[in-house]
Amino acid sequence: METKRFNQQEITEAAKILRQGGLVAFPSETVYGLGANATLEDAVKQVFIVKGRPSDNPLIVHVENFEQVKQYVDVFHPLTETIVEKFWPGPLTLIFKIKSDALPRVVSAGLSTVSFRMPDHPLTLALIKEVGAPLVGPSANTSGRPSPTQSEHVYHDLNGKIAGILEGGSTTIGVESTVLDISDPTQPPMILRPGAVTKEALEAALKVPILVDQHLVEESQAPRSPGMKYKHYAPKTTVWMVHSDDWQAAFDWATSNHFKIGVLASPTLQERFSNQMTAIYPLTDETVTAAAKGLFAGLRALDEEQVDLIFAPVFSETGLGVAYMNRLKKAANQHFFKP
Ligand code: TXA
Ligand code: MG
Repeated sequence: METKRFNQQEITEAAKILRQGGLVAFPSETVYGLGANATLEDAVKQVFIVKGRPSDNPLIVHVENFEQVKQYVDVFHPLTETIVEKFWPGPLTLIFKIKSDALPRVVSAGLSTVSFRMPDHPLTLALIKEVGAPLVGPSANTSGRPSPTQSEHVYHDLNGKIAGILEGGSTTIGVESTVLDISDPTQPPMILRPGAVTKEALEAALKVPILVDQHLVEESQAPRSPGMKYKHYAPKTTVWMVHSDDWQAAFDWATSNHFKIGVLASPTLQERFSNQMTAIYPLTDETVTAAAKGLFAGLRALDEEQVDLIFAPVFSETGLGVAYMNRLKKAANQHFFKP
């Protein structure tokens, strides 16, 4: 199969493939998604096969607006309307109890809940509208690879396995959406996966305490979101996390051991240590926003270089830093450079 690259003038053509059960990857503000018509069982099954995704890991259903969710859900948490009004379209996935048999069971991997998200991307919203049905959309990478933030990443992983990719440039946020469980109307909302919609932002907007899955706090707990148990985002090259005070020591150690180092490097790091780096993936500034945007692309790029180790910066675990560190720790297998 030849994987076609669709531009924004070709949305109708891409939509036609999706209506007929084919797979087309789409851009979003977080990462690229692997699209299939959520109402077609065989198309959804194909998504699991193409990604090599474990069949117990449910998919997110991407909708054009909140109205579309109401076709599949009839029990809503009292905070739903406020959440949707404040955060959709955007990087927030919401888990609802599903109306029985409203969607093929494979979508939610047999669970009684299903997750929905309205992505903040004009091309993808236009695509869903044109298809006339919601689209499942796991990150469009081979399972176990970093999520794709550019269409080239999708092409690299899935060329020849899917019908097409809708081109939308680089994604702006770079880490996957926050997953918020609001399936039980009697319980406070709970974050199952951290993303760009932070606990702080949710609490400020909703004026209620937001719970966080214990798995995200304590290693020993089993996750409530099946996907969080898999070792994601691991590049082939070993990744070490470096605290801001430890860069000098880390480079001195690497140099004295003749290790070739690739670095996800802010402008300051590039300036201070350029002669001790074999490869650089440049971050645009010093912020965690820039680090999150560059993380997956950087890991992919540095993995192609002849380096022994990848160094990535540690950020404090507040705000977007929670999501960034969650993904980075998995990529680094929890390993910090110790001076
Ligand atoms: O930003 C994103 O969320 C991207 C873009 C393309 O929208 N999609 C994405 O999908 O990251 P995926 O499949 O890679 O991650 C979905 C996560 C998994 O951890 C899965 O276990 C969890 O959401 N999830 C989905 N439905 C769920 C459900 N009903 N209950 C618990 N967890 C669920
Ligand atoms: Mg994924």
